[in-house]
Amino acid sequence: MKKSTILVTGSAGFMGSHLVDALIDQGNSVYGIDNLSIGYLKNVIPKARKTFVKLDLRDRKKIASLIGRVKPEIIFHLAAIAREGLSQFTPISHTENNYNAYLNVLIPAIKNKVRRVVLFSSMAVYGDQEPPFSEDMLRKPIDIYGTAKAAMEQATEALSDVFGFEYVILRPHNVYGPRQNLADPYRNVIAIFMNRLLQKKPFYIYGNGEQTRSFTYIGDIVSPMATAGFQANISGEIINLGPERAYTINQMAEIVLKSFGSDLHPIYLPDRPREVKDAFCSSAKAKKLIGFSDKTSLSEGIKEMIGWAKTVGFKEPKYLRSLELNEGKAPKTWSEKLI
Ligand SMILES: NC(=O)c1ccc[n+]([C@@H]2O[C@H](COP(=O)([O-])OP(=O)(O)OC[C@H]3O[C@@H](n4cnc5c(N)ncnc54)[C@H](O)[C@@H]3O)[C@@H](O)[C@H]2O)c1
Repeated sequence: MKKSTILVTGSAGFMGSHLVDALIDQGNSVYGIDNLSIGYLKNVIPKARKTFVKLDLRDRKKIASLIGRVKPEIIFHLAAIAREGLSQFTPISHTENNYNAYLNVLIPAIKNKVRRVVLFSSMAVYGDQEPPFSEDMLRKPIDIYGTAKAAMEQATEALSDVFGFEYVILRPHNVYGPRQNLADPYRNVIAIFMNRLLQKKPFYIYGNGEQTRSFTYIGDIVSPMATAGFQANISGEIINLGPERAYTINQMAEIVLKSFGSDLHPIYLPDRPREVKDAFCSSAKAKKLIGFSDKTSLSEGIKEMIGWAKTVGFKEPKYLRSLELNEGKAPKTWSEKLI
């Protein structure tokens, strides 16, 4: 494989940091950007530190200047505020950090002749259509986060058509594993459950727990994510990334409790507004095009993550000081800081 100059946004985050490690191992020259609003500097391994820049993608001038200097051939765009359930209460910040921030990257990238952009989108663009979701289904997001991701996808298609760069859109779903932010009370259900159990406290489930999701172990997708930047025949493709097997939140919760050796029981709360009931994807394209294989079972992956979480220990949840909208509709787990 030819070695390339690569820019990874969101490189101190959970998935971005694993991706950077793999791209460096392949011998590429990898630059990372993150504003550390959610990610951690400790996720940036020593080999990646020299080319890591703390930068906020909302700062259009700074990102344009960095891209002009580095002139990346490939950009993996992972930076995001990906708190889907929260996005109805913080629509401006979700738009600024997702859609607007992405355009701030894409425009200078095009001007500096980027060869390929790999956009990390989300299963949220499918909304509440009948699963399993396949890539040929329409975009029908039902929340602010999904709407921003759908707009990012469409902007990519339109600008690629006009300016001729290659792109690949990945739609991962419910990824979990070591380095996930345990302190985020707004997303990452498995990490939230574990952070509660680390304090020997029960966790909360929204609704009756019969919602279905498929869960993706990070170790199973690092190589497919990296491949998306290089594989020749996949430009212009949209690819779901994650396993097909779906679990209810109750089933997943039981596996977490059992693997933790805990005899606590979940506490049930009302549904969150606009939460999709059933959401899982077909993975045929990911298997065929970028070598995805769901090698790690949910119980194996959860055991691995618990091993890591126990070494890290309980993390104090970090709540936002205020929401842009509330009107009493935010779950009490947030307003009363229960998590
Ligand atoms: N983890 C999942 O289950 C999942 C599922 C679907 C899609 N995705 C997408 O994959 C990508 C990576 O997700 P993740 O789980 O690693 O999230 P993450 O929160 O761990 O990483 C995102 C990183 O972006 C950074 N960031 C946010 N706003 C920024 C800004 N304005 N400027 C610079 N950096 C900024 C954060 O500090 C964070 O480190 C995201 O685009 C997310 O939407 C993730």
